[in-house]
Amino acid sequence: MKFFIDTANLDQIRQAQSLGILDGVTTNPSLMAKEGVKGKKQIFKHYKAICDMVDGPVSAEVFSTDFKGMIKEGEELHKIDPDKITIKLPCTEDGIKAVKYFSQKGYRTNCTLVFTVGQALLAAKAGATFCSPFIGRLDDIGEDGIQLIEQIVDMYSYYGFETQVLAASIRHTNHILRCIEAGADVATCPYKSIIGLIDHPLTTKGLEIFCKAAESMK
Ligand code: G3P
Repeated sequence: MKFFIDTANLDQIRQAQSLGILDGVTTNPSLMAKEGVKGKKQIFKHYKAICDMVDGPVSAEVFSTDFKGMIKEGEELHKIDPDKITIKLPCTEDGIKAVKYFSQKGYRTNCTLVFTVGQALLAAKAGATFCSPFIGRLDDIGEDGIQLIEQIVDMYSYYGFETQVLAASIRHTNHILRCIEAGADVATCPYKSIIGLIDHPLTTKGLEIFCKAAESMK
């Protein structure tokens, strides 16, 4: 399973990159706003900084909600770094049309805000590189986010779609573990949840014992 970090925070991206396990980055308008970037110039500069830091796809979401606007924005975003920028488009009628438009041009796309298998089918049929089901937000309303990941993974495999299932809206480490079991291609996670995979009391305790032994041999 690939690991993307779900943030626009440069320090966190740098930290995850230095772990040596980072495969890409996803951002969204809320995450960009959190970093205080304002205006097109600053926003594009920020995306460029992320692309320069990471060796993998960087999802940059369009702000427009209409097809024409999405195409204009997507083209501009693509130019920032054609090898890394992945145009993130919402799973709406206009969004699906835009996914189709860009995938026909050979651009990488991420169809976001996916909450059903039907939406995932349309994203794949339009040629999306990634389909992003939001598991945390489904859990929030009493539904089962992980079950949706399993259903989409099965459906893509049954029909032979190449679209990758990118589990998004991951809130904690257990979500990541469940995504591994469900067969997600990618999990995009907050830095804290990735670190949660490392921390284990027996690792800490075991290391203390080994350090004491090593000290006694000096
Ligand atoms: O990848 C999408 C993600 O950023 C949304 O997460 O926690 O706002 O549902 P959340």
